[in-house]
Amino acid sequence: MGMIWLAKDPLYNSIRIRPFLQKGFKVLNIEHKRFPDGEEYIRILDEINEEDHYVVILRGFPEQNSNILRGLLIIDTLRDFGARKIIVVWPYLPYSRQDKRFLPGEAISVITLVKVISLLGVSYIITVDVHNESAFKRFKGKIINITTEDLWAEYIARRYNARKIALIAPDKGREEFIRKVAQTLGADYYVFEKRRDLTTGKIVCHSPTDEESIKNAINYADCFIIIDDIIATGGTLANIARWLRTEGFNGKIVVGGIHGLFLGNAVDRLLRSGVDEIIASDTVSNPFIHDELSVSPLLVNAILNIIGEKGERTR
Ligand code: R5P
Repeated sequence: MGMIWLAKDPLYNSIRIRPFLQKGFKVLNIEHKRFPDGEEYIRILDEINEEDHYVVILRGFPEQNSNILRGLLIIDTLRDFGARKIIVVWPYLPYSRQDKRFLPGEAISVITLVKVISLLGVSYIITVDVHNESAFKRFKGKIINITTEDLWAEYIARRYNARKIALIAPDKGREEFIRKVAQTLGADYYVFEKRRDLTTGKIVCHSPTDEESIKNAINYADCFIIIDDIIATGGTLANIARWLRTEGFNGKIVVGGIHGLFLGNAVDRLLRSGVDEIIASDTVSNPFIHDELSVSPLLVNAILNIIGEKGERTR
């Protein structure tokens, strides 16, 4: 079997690469610069070998649009120089929240994005806890969505083991994820429901689906952990923290983001709402990353499984 090269977007710094190196991946040297008018420049400095595997790992945030452009340049240049086995890894998939037509005539941006990537001759796209996996039913290519429930459950068990924990899913979309984490931990979980204004995107209503039982939990739990797939403005999690505090909860409130974007004053908003601690994985650069929540070991496994299954060729 050929070598496995890690062709990382030169601007993607948060993702931990040690697990890749430990498994023998070699880092492909890629030069990047930006022209004065903002256009992206990419040059691949190593020789490309048809027999080798190329794992293109792309940054999702910030600067989604230029990240996409660099990704396209890297993939297409690899192809031009003979790479035939290309796996794209996009831990935080940009545009993933525009996954359906909320209003007539809208673009389903995430589907357009993955279609374009696969047109370049990519066999697999791997992502992590994508906002809505069912969106990909409309896509014919191969997408692997890695879910991180076990990672979070193990981390929580280690870190907060002395506490009486209750978990919260901030909306119906996260319920399954939280249910699995709670099951592993043997903890209770509660679900909130939210409705957004489809034009402005603002949350118009956000409340627990079973108010009575979460009010009971406030009496026994000493730590609520709320995990969302994306923390953007922080509004969703701040609403819940504020609700808990208003109901008289005095214990610890921890919020976790798989993809922590922390836009604008999100951190301040969270802390002011009563959140004590913020934790995040390494898919997006932010100050709250915990190494034990790094998704890299899971990515490495998924890649090695694909390569193993497909043997010499991934296409
Ligand atoms: C949307 O439904 C997502 O799952 C997140 O809840 C949302 O993106 C969080 O956004 P924000 O932090 O702006 O409330």
